[in-house]
Amino acid sequence: MTPPTATMTAWTQHRYGGPDAVRPETAPVPVPAPAEVLLRVQATGLNSADVRVMRGDPLLLRLAFGLRRPRTAVQGRDVAGTVVAVGADVAADPAGLRIGDDVVGEITGGGLAPYAAARADRLVRRPAGVDAVTAAALPMAGGTAWQALALAGVGADDDAAGKRILILGAGGGVGTFAVRLAALRGATVTAVAGDRSADVVANLGAGTVLRHRAADIGALPAASFDVVVLIAGEDRLRPLRRLLAPGGILVLVSGGAHRVWGPIGTIVRGMLLSRPAARIRPLAATAHPEITADLARLAAAGDLAPHIERTWPLDDAGAALAHVDAGHTVGKVVVIA
Ligand SMILES: NC(=O)c1ccc[n+]([C@@H]2O[C@H](COP(=O)([O-])OP(=O)(O)OC[C@H]3O[C@@H](n4cnc5c(N)ncnc54)[C@H](OP(=O)(O)O)[C@@H]3O)[C@@H](O)[C@H]2O)c1
Repeated sequence: MTPPTATMTAWTQHRYGGPDAVRPETAPVPVPAPAEVLLRVQATGLNSADVRVMRGDPLLLRLAFGLRRPRTAVQGRDVAGTVVAVGADVAADPAGLRIGDDVVGEITGGGLAPYAAARADRLVRRPAGVDAVTAAALPMAGGTAWQALALAGVGADDDAAGKRILILGAGGGVGTFAVRLAALRGATVTAVAGDRSADVVANLGAGTVLRHRAADIGALPAASFDVVVLIAGEDRLRPLRRLLAPGGILVLVSGGAHRVWGPIGTIVRGMLLSRPAARIRPLAATAHPEITADLARLAAAGDLAPHIERTWPLDDAGAALAHVDAGHTVGKVVVIA
């Protein structure tokens, strides 16, 4: 199962910009480093992170991802694929991945191509019964929702039964996972979502759905939620803090879209407004293979079925990036290689 060719066509960018900055280009098939494997990519889930890096927006992000152009010229971080080659360290590890293993994970980029190299320790084996498209939808959005709920006391090991949770921006990738996981753990979910995603979030387990362009969050009764998760659509924190019952927590997954520093201003305001009786906590989600494995187990058990709005073939990955870039994804978008 070694790659049949030395080159491939990868969706590549040499400058920050919109989807037009990303073009199909001939590139060498990567050679895995000692701790890496080479994947034949089957499916790549797109996230808002891919288009933020594509655009270099906010500017602060460029400190980490490349000052003049993205260091990762090929976007695509949530990848499901088959191992076709292994690096020396992986081969020497008796428990390491092997050629032919079907895997999934959040990698550092390169997924919008037929082949991608990835650190083996970022990948987990894909359970039987979980197809590649479903698997590719899981890692980043599911992992962010998982970590947001854990921070809020609605984690896998928490007694979350009956907790009242308000999820703002429930219709996108992170939001739909947050609704499903919170409902699965017994919380009572109120979701704020758009017209196109209202039925989706209701089917995922939201007991109440408020339309985001119509809902007046400030008019909701004070102290009516134990948890508020802010994913999109609001950055006035005082009205949200007012909704928290004593001891409640507001988790900032997102907030603010300042061109230079993105959500930093909202995070600082959150720290200043946080009180012991109404805590405000920012989330900085990171890749956790064990969380991807947990999500994949839930999918295999039939408890978690990510909502996939649409798939695109790899040949049309530019259109998939443009769709996510427009900011109105319902659930997930997946590119099939
Ligand atoms: N803190 C972290 O570690 C972390 C990690 C991952 C992601 N994030 C952030 O989380 C946010 C969501 O990411 P994602 O990947 O889920 O994005 P996504 O899939 O692109 O989500 C887009 C969704 O947001 C909804 N939305 C936009 N404006 C809204 C509003 N005013 N009220 C309610 N919903 C609104 C859209 O609904 P409509 O089409 O109806 O407008 C759409 O369904 C992004 O800002 C991302 O940067 C943070």
